[in-house]
Amino acid sequence: MTAYLRALRLVNFRNYADGTVLLGPGLNVIVGDNAQGKTNLLEAVSFAVTGSSPRTPKENEVVRWSADFARTEARIALNGSADERKVAIGYAPGQKKRITVDGAPEPSLTNYAAGAAGARVVTFFPDDIRVVKGAPSDRREFLDALLSSLRPAYARAAGEYAKAVQQRNQLLRRIRDGFSSERTLATWDRKVVDLGRTVLEGREAAVPVLDEHFKSSLRALYGSEKAAIRYSYTSTLEDYSEALREAHSADIERGTTSVGPHRDDFEVSLGGVDLTTFGSQGQQRLATLALKFAARDFVRGVVGEDPILLFDDVMSELDERRREFLAGYFLESTQALITTTNLDYFGRDILRRTRIIRISGGSVLETATDGAKS
Ligand SMILES: Nc1ncnc2c1ncn2[C@@H]1O[C@H](COP(=O)(O)OP(=O)(O)OP(=O)(O)O)[C@@H](O)[C@H]1O
Ligand SMILES: [Mg+2]
Repeated sequence: MTAYLRALRLVNFRNYADGTVLLGPGLNVIVGDNAQGKTNLLEAVSFAVTGSSPRTPKENEVVRWSADFARTEARIALNGSADERKVAIGYAPGQKKRITVDGAPEPSLTNYAAGAAGARVVTFFPDDIRVVKGAPSDRREFLDALLSSLRPAYARAAGEYAKAVQQRNQLLRRIRDGFSSERTLATWDRKVVDLGRTVLEGREAAVPVLDEHFKSSLRALYGSEKAAIRYSYTSTLEDYSEALREAHSADIERGTTSVGPHRDDFEVSLGGVDLTTFGSQGQQRLATLALKFAARDFVRGVVGEDPILLFDDVMSELDERRREFLAGYFLESTQALITTTNLDYFGRDILRRTRIIRISGGSVLETATDGAKS
């Protein structure tokens, strides 16, 4: 059965001093004017469930100005509400995060991020359009975050791989500058290939599955044109060691590692057209949404449970037909939290089956289970 978030307490998190929000399964709409704390609330849910902010690598930003720590506490319903897990994250900048699961310390952030809370999240922030529109690193980050949320071994390999590449790059520069000999490179090649292989294998297995889900999501969101995502390699698994070796002299000259999953990408296309280069704003946005839906389906396929959907301000730029489609999709989800400034984006019969959470000035004003009355 499927997990959902029942309650979240935010202490000194962004513009929340101390607030608690109660949530239900299915669709939860977070409504409020601009700059009241809607996006912050979604960020806090993700922080509570994964242990990190999905919005910024500079996490001291989440601590309320004038405070010296932030804390989230969450109650997660498990097994169709029969059980409950309590998870808390305490964070003071410069210190290791304190994570507890049912009161017991969880020392590994990587383990926690890979589902120790009992739930997973798939987030959509308006800025995520960069997954389609932006640099290869944005797309790699999307894949790595998804796979890391499912397998701590992948997360660890990806982290260690990045470090190994850095170290190999340092060595390349030392060789170039005459401080080391090229023979020392073989050891680092082996280490890099060892770790890189895990990353590559994980991505290779995932992309065709994601592609299937992406196709059907984009068909529902956009239309019948043929959509695809396709992994693009600097080297395939089979040729990896050899390709790395062949690149030695070029790599030494440049002082960087030119082959491996840290340089790979995936192509997002619609009707044979590469959306990164040629997509319209709307196509890029819908493709981003379809990727997020594909991530939802992928998580469902791997763990047999839906992730919690956290979608920020997703309705505002869509036409009415697509808003209706999305509202239905969220309503049928195990749990979805959607922010909006305007409840009119949701029809009355949708609102009747929705929990409405009103936010103002970093406070949760009220929650109503029948939004159609409010
Ligand atoms: N660390 C922090 N401490 C206190 N306030 C913060 C912190 N970080 C951000 N804020 C403030 O929180 C307020 C609410 O931000 P948030 O992004 O959640 O607004 P929002 O309700 O999503 O608005 P919009 O509809 O414009 O997207 C902003 O005014 C922002 O400046
Ligand atoms: Mg916002």
